[in-house]
Amino acid sequence: MDIIKSRHSIRKYTDEQISREDLEKILEAGNYAPNAGGGQRSMMVALHNKELTRKLGIMNLAKFNRGNLVGSYVSKEQPSVIDDPTMKDGFYGAPTVIAIFSQGNFLLKTADAFCMAENIVLQATELGIASCIISRGEETFDSEEGRTLMKEWAVPDNYICQGFVVLGYIDGEQPVSKPRKPGRVQIIE
Ligand SMILES: Cc1cc2nc3c(=O)[nH]c(=O)nc-3n(C[C@H](O)[C@H](O)[C@H](O)COP(=O)(O)O)c2cc1C
Repeated sequence: MDIIKSRHSIRKYTDEQISREDLEKILEAGNYAPNAGGGQRSMMVALHNKELTRKLGIMNLAKFNRGNLVGSYVSKEQPSVIDDPTMKDGFYGAPTVIAIFSQGNFLLKTADAFCMAENIVLQATELGIASCIISRGEETFDSEEGRTLMKEWAVPDNYICQGFVVLGYIDGEQPVSKPRKPGRVQIIE
């Protein structure tokens, strides 16, 4: 419970890279996530390189129209790309990103991918590493450049990116969780 409650979506990172050893542990946690039917149809590609991560982070926002979201409030302490439309890097300068891909024709592809993402962020928290889940997976690779990267990384043709987890060390203070909305939990006996 301590790890669950101390995980926050972090959107300000220092330049310090996480270690390869920690990244491998985090990927192992993702690899042991629950997955529909035991089919293990999702896969991860980790970019452990700040320049590559930034390049992909810019691709992540390239086609994102934030115009209709102005005024949405995500976080006061950790403003998101929706809160601050001047941001160019959808990965917030984090030095590492894990892209999660799932088999495109599988009904539960998104659920599988986000079980993986949850294992990743919790393992990262245990290691003192900050994280943020990022969406717009499919759009990020929807270009010649994106398709070329997927080929280079040997992602099967029928796989679709479902999202990302960015990783690094927090720049600044830990944010505080928003109060939980009432009425979201019931116990029936
Ligand atoms: C499916 C999903 C997609 C998300 N996509 C983004 C995103 O693209 N960019 C971002 O800054 N945060 C993203 N988040 C993080 C949420 O904004 C964050 O979880 C929420 O504001 C609650 O804050 P907390 O994670 O610190 O508790 C995403 C979270 C989930 C679960």
